[in-house]
Amino acid sequence: MKNVHTPVLLNEVLRALNPQPGHTYVDGTFGAGGYTKAILKHAPCTVYGIDRDPAATKRGKALEEVEKRFTIVEGNFGDLDRLLADEDVTAVDGIVFDLGVSLSSARRSRARVFIPKRRTP
Ligand SMILES: C[S@@+](CC[C@H](N)C(=O)[O-])C[C@H]1O[C@@H](n2cnc3c(N)ncnc32)[C@H](O)[C@@H]1O
Repeated sequence: MKNVHTPVLLNEVLRALNPQPGHTYVDGTFGAGGYTKAILKHAPCTVYGIDRDPAATKRGKALEEVEKRFTIVEGNFGDLDRLLADEDVTAVDGIVFDLGVSLSSARRSRARVFIPKRRTP
């Protein structure tokens, strides 16, 4: 899967979540799957990825094909309970959300988004 986004605060997210073997996690904003892939690599756990953007869930489908511990779900994380219940999931061990805007989404968006040309101090 081509990397279309560099995940932010990944080490901090992993430290806070501390994925454990056999546990179940939700990545509520799957995006390009950066968080999901890191969680799956960290421990032999299960991850459900949610995203409302069909471009993101298409990437999720590709990951699902090669990673049996991962399931992608298209929908709004506001409907988390229902989306997980549809997958027969009634309890999870941790949930992550990355509420930033990815560069690829910003470029595809019709909305006006300001992207800094360079890093500032
Ligand atoms: C910054 S990207 C996530 C990047 C991801 N952490 C990664 O490492 O690739 C944010 C994602 O959240 C999704 N998103 C935003 N609001 C959402 C919502 N209410 N429900 C589901 N997905 C949402 C967007 O479609 C986008 O794919």
